[in-house]
Amino acid sequence: MRPIDLEVTEVIEEGDGIATLRFDREFDVSAGNYGMFWVRGVDEVPMSFSYPDGITVRAIGETTQAMTEMEVGDSLGVRGPFGESFDLPDSDSGEVVVVGGGTGMAPVALLTEEAAREGLDVTTLIGAATADEVVFEQRLSSLDGVDVRVATDDGTKGHEGYVTELLDGYDADDVDMVASCGPEPMMAKVLERYDEEDVEVRFSLERYMKCGIGICGSCCIDDTGSRVCADGPVYDGDSLRGGEFGVYHRDAAGRKEEF
Ligand SMILES: Cc1cc2nc3c(=O)[nH]c(=O)nc-3n(C[C@H](O)[C@H](O)[C@H](O)COP(=O)(O)OP(=O)(O)OC[C@H]3O[C@@H](n4cnc5c(N)ncnc54)[C@H](O)[C@@H]3O)c2cc1C
Ligand code: FES
Repeated sequence: MRPIDLEVTEVIEEGDGIATLRFDREFDVSAGNYGMFWVRGVDEVPMSFSYPDGITVRAIGETTQAMTEMEVGDSLGVRGPFGESFDLPDSDSGEVVVVGGGTGMAPVALLTEEAAREGLDVTTLIGAATADEVVFEQRLSSLDGVDVRVATDDGTKGHEGYVTELLDGYDADDVDMVASCGPEPMMAKVLERYDEEDVEVRFSLERYMKCGIGICGSCCIDDTGSRVCADGPVYDGDSLRGGEFGVYHRDAAGRKEEF
């Protein structure tokens, strides 16, 4: 599949080393869908859509650094959209609780907007290391039916501590679904919180991807061999229990890296 050409139409500084790029083309995407974005001369990397026409990138290596340095008028390629999306619950009797950490907020921001459009009650918990890295607080606070809470590790904004600590305030009986994306140790805590409860918990995973279409095997997860690029990246909690989730992932060479 040849990449489609995109032009950057807007660059929004979201925080320290984090930028949203908006494009001249809107995609038909749901929360959780991602694209393989190609910075010419550098590399191609997976990115969740944070808007139908945008992505939100944290600079951690060469490709993401180049992306956050892009300017209006620059171009990049994309293959996709790919991947399974988060499904919203049918019932509107309970609440949807959304837990995002760092740029893991990208897919769950779209999910929050989708749930608000459906008239569901949503609580979105935004976690970040520090106040400078809190993304989408304003965007989501303005939505009807959405309650936004913030937690920062260093206490510079909102609750001081892990965002998962805010889950203690929600009675599982009132919750229809919990959706989460962010650092895996954070998501593992979300899964642990609902170990004993009858609540649907869904996660969007990040794994090292090369082909993005289920051929190369670089994104397979133990113990099931599921290919995150094609079978995920959204999984329900039950399918992740007892495997590598929250314990390790693999690098570009396939070596295990513990979280
Ligand atoms: C489905 C999916 C959606 C994503 N959505 C976003 C998003 O919305 N915003 C965002 O900022 N990032 C997102 N990522 C992560 C992003 O793809 C990586 O940060 C990026 O590939 C790093 O590339 P790089 O060349 O800048 O860094 P590299 O130099 O390639 O890597 C830097 C470090 O990150 C590790 N790493 C690289 N890629 C991954 C990965 N996929 N999973 C775990 N560790 C990795 C490397 O092993 C290395 O330690 C997503 C990843 C996936 C799989
Ligand atoms: S990235 Fe190749 S199989 Fe998933």
